[in-house]
Amino acid sequence: PNRLDVDLALFGALGDLALRKLFPALYHLDREGLLPSETRLLGLARHELDRQGFQAKVGSALKSRVSAEDLDKKSQERFLARIDYLKIDFANPEEYALLRDWREGSSRPMIVYLSVPASIFGEICCNLKAGDCLDEKSRVVVEKPIGYDLESSCEINDVIGDVFPESRIYRIDHYLGKETVQNLIALRFANPLFGTQWNQNHVSHVEITVAETVGIEGRWGYFDQAGQLRDMVQNHLLQLLCLIAMDPPSNLDADAIRDEKVKVLKALKPFTGEAIGRDVVRGQYIAGTHAGQSVPGYLEEEGADKASHTETFVAMKTEVANWRWAGVPFYLRTGKRMPEKLSQIVIHFRQQPHYIFDPDQRSLAANKLIIRLQPEEGIALQVLTKDSGLDKGMRLRPGPLHLDFHSAFPKTRIPDAYERLLLEVMKGQQYLFVRRDEIEYAWRWIDHLIEGWQAHELPPRRYPAGSWGPVASIAMITQDGRSWYEDY
Ligand code: BG6
Repeated sequence: PNRLDVDLALFGALGDLALRKLFPALYHLDREGLLPSETRLLGLARHELDRQGFQAKVGSALKSRVSAEDLDKKSQERFLARIDYLKIDFANPEEYALLRDWREGSSRPMIVYLSVPASIFGEICCNLKAGDCLDEKSRVVVEKPIGYDLESSCEINDVIGDVFPESRIYRIDHYLGKETVQNLIALRFANPLFGTQWNQNHVSHVEITVAETVGIEGRWGYFDQAGQLRDMVQNHLLQLLCLIAMDPPSNLDADAIRDEKVKVLKALKPFTGEAIGRDVVRGQYIAGTHAGQSVPGYLEEEGADKASHTETFVAMKTEVANWRWAGVPFYLRTGKRMPEKLSQIVIHFRQQPHYIFDPDQRSLAANKLIIRLQPEEGIALQVLTKDSGLDKGMRLRPGPLHLDFHSAFPKTRIPDAYERLLLEVMKGQQYLFVRRDEIEYAWRWIDHLIEGWQAHELPPRRYPAGSWGPVASIAMITQDGRSWYEDY
């Protein structure tokens, strides 16, 4: 049978993630002919709805999430017609018989997608097992947040691990499905030019910025428990850092890649003593502006506890303490309510050992590799050339060698991360998913940092919505004679 023939059972099918991301992604896969006709899709939720009612809900979600150009009537009707729905109470083991009946006679692997809070992962997994819904080919897909700290993440991993072996658990970090994130692997390991330069002899420092314009509107309760460090750094930023810093895997197998990422996580230098106050900046946004409109501060959002010290911004300087990277700072920053949505990595190469041009231009004279994840996915290498014009002498001019994916591949739509991730789960390939030890080493490092914050009782610094974060985050890098890269 075709390897993509599966039965996909999506728990939490009426939730925000399912309607906003998962069904639109499945629609695109179907439209591009990547979902074989034998593949069956099932939504499961607690709500009393029939099949048509559920299809109508998915239909309206598609209207708001898929561009008019991609949403043709024929593809939409075909896609909706293949979706089934089951109303079940996830907590009631007896109701899983409905799922078993739905599977009756199918020899396809079942993929169970748990788009539900982690607190009920265990219950669902046990009920699936007790209800005889699984076999040795069944896979499970889970979303972050996997826990709140190391201890809670171990508990969650244990309950899933009691039912599914690690080789059939797919933990999503949706950043790993982004086109340019995957390109990091191609860029680093297919280009000898970079391969030879990618270490402390040639790289002076690395920046990773993940800035968002959104605030915490509408999900204050969840976010306030987590904060930006747990919500973004523990997963997305550390995954990016791993892909930048890891050693070459011996092949592209999931475990070869994940073994290398784990080595990076283990080598991350812990923040101790005064480094906590010096090398980490926490921020919380106050009222400001977004797109010319006034927006409230974090403590004025609906449902806010006015005394909250939760951070909506973090900047830090860290180091990967190993042979390849010793002494190379990795500057990370991420925040809500920044002036623009921007995710980018900048590799700053070292200057030439001997400089012969205009002394005033000395600080310019180094190459930078800018990897833009969003928006406008692309890669630019900043190189120095001679400024043109007879009167310019040997003045230098930095300029980009630029690969913009939209213009370079104009006919190719850049797929959403979830399309790629769903496809990989269906193929049974785990290299874009996070292994248990990765999550746990990441939590270990984060927990240690949080303990340090708590011990020092450092409240977050304020920054106006629409700015690049607290002034201290700029000072943190300028005191090293550097600045956050702004120009693309
Ligand atoms: C999620 C976080 O994992 O990633 C959100 O929980 C954040 O707080 C989102 O807004 C950002 O994802 P993207 O793909 O929009 O950069």
